[in-house]
Amino acid sequence: MPEFRTSPGFRDLLHPASSRQRAFVDAFASIVEAAGFELVVPPLLEDVGVFRRLGEATDVVTKEMYDFVDKGDRHVVLRPEQTAGVCRAFVEHRPAVPWKAWCFGPNFRYERPQRGRYRQFEQVDVEVLGTDDPQADVEVIALGWRFFAALGLSQVRLLVNSLGTSDERLAHMESLRTYFEGRAGELSEQSRATLARNPLRVLDSKRAEDEAVIAAAPPVSESLGDESSAHFAAVLAGLDALGIPYDVDDRLVRGLDYYVRTTFEYAGGTLESAQNALGGGGRYDGLVEDLGGPSTPGIGLALGVDRTLLACDDEGVFPAPIRAADVFVVDVTGGTNATSLTDELRQLGYRAERAYDGRSMRSQMKAADRSGAELAVIYAPDELADGSVVVRRLRDDGEQFTVPIDGLATTLAEHLDSLISNTGPKTR
Ligand code: HAM
Repeated sequence: MPEFRTSPGFRDLLHPASSRQRAFVDAFASIVEAAGFELVVPPLLEDVGVFRRLGEATDVVTKEMYDFVDKGDRHVVLRPEQTAGVCRAFVEHRPAVPWKAWCFGPNFRYERPQRGRYRQFEQVDVEVLGTDDPQADVEVIALGWRFFAALGLSQVRLLVNSLGTSDERLAHMESLRTYFEGRAGELSEQSRATLARNPLRVLDSKRAEDEAVIAAAPPVSESLGDESSAHFAAVLAGLDALGIPYDVDDRLVRGLDYYVRTTFEYAGGTLESAQNALGGGGRYDGLVEDLGGPSTPGIGLALGVDRTLLACDDEGVFPAPIRAADVFVVDVTGGTNATSLTDELRQLGYRAERAYDGRSMRSQMKAADRSGAELAVIYAPDELADGSVVVRRLRDDGEQFTVPIDGLATTLAEHLDSLISNTGPKTR
């Protein structure tokens, strides 16, 4: 028989990693839903054209797309990110603006897999469409910042920049082109190739030989007009008002080409620099129009779930939730007692587990211990003949008592409620 394994850059997540990922998304949901964002679930597969505006000169578009022609002759792609799909959905459905949407799920990029860099990776994402109020930028940036704090992360740095309007951005690109061409001999071969396609992307280079040339490149602030400067100043003032610390990073261009004006990134303090971006985002005021919609400004962010969880590991925060059972039903009498009692308890909202295959009392009690349950309910022949079962506390004292089968689920529920109120609530 052939042995199948996941493809490079793809992973199986089993418990507890899988439960932790879900808890992460739940925590994000509660923060963004409190801020009025509505969940949107776009498909994983889109027409390849939806992602064209990510940039003809970006790695994401030129090298990393999982695209193919489907059986209906459509050129489609597994989404490499969520923003363009959300904008496509906006154009298709025209929800009222401002439209505040959030989403989560997998994205696909054919990258070189390493720690924190996968070919299938999870993002959580928010987008605000239909306003260019700088306070919306502040709200989005702050949501990401507060979320990291809620996870317990303390070593995240916020970097912000403004790229100006698309005209100002173009002007900046031209001044960068002139500058880099003048010093092309000092650049790495890869950056010289990048320069021919898009001089902004040269600023992304992490190669040591490019460092000095990049450090002396003309800053984007020189290309900003009055309106863009005022917008950026308002964003910074908003962050100041919230007491959110940031660094203005003049070289922060981000890896996708749709950005104008505000861009930002959250850098983790513990991961290697090539993978230290835990998340980022910015304005994409022309994207909706490029996808056939009305002129609609937009701003959003995406956080990398996998990378942020690695940063949580490094800082020792946000552990996987413990999902212990409440009751473990042990039955050595055969029949359907365990099936009925677990069913009844589950309907009452408790986590009830059981063993299978008619195992011995010893083996079922071991399984009960492993389940982390508060109580074991034991169906044993002698007690059963008297119309009762044995209930044993599995923690602390191991105390045990007999309980009549009549009304058993209700008695157990009361007992569990008092145990839980004594020891504090457990994650359910
Ligand atoms: P991005 O910077 O390409 O932005 O991705 C956001 C985050 O996704 C990154 O900071 C990183 O944490 C994570 N990420 C990206 N690629 C990988 C990978 N191969 N493996 C693991 N994690 C990865 C966007 O995707 C934009 N859509 C953000 C945005 C939303 N802008 C406006 N709205």
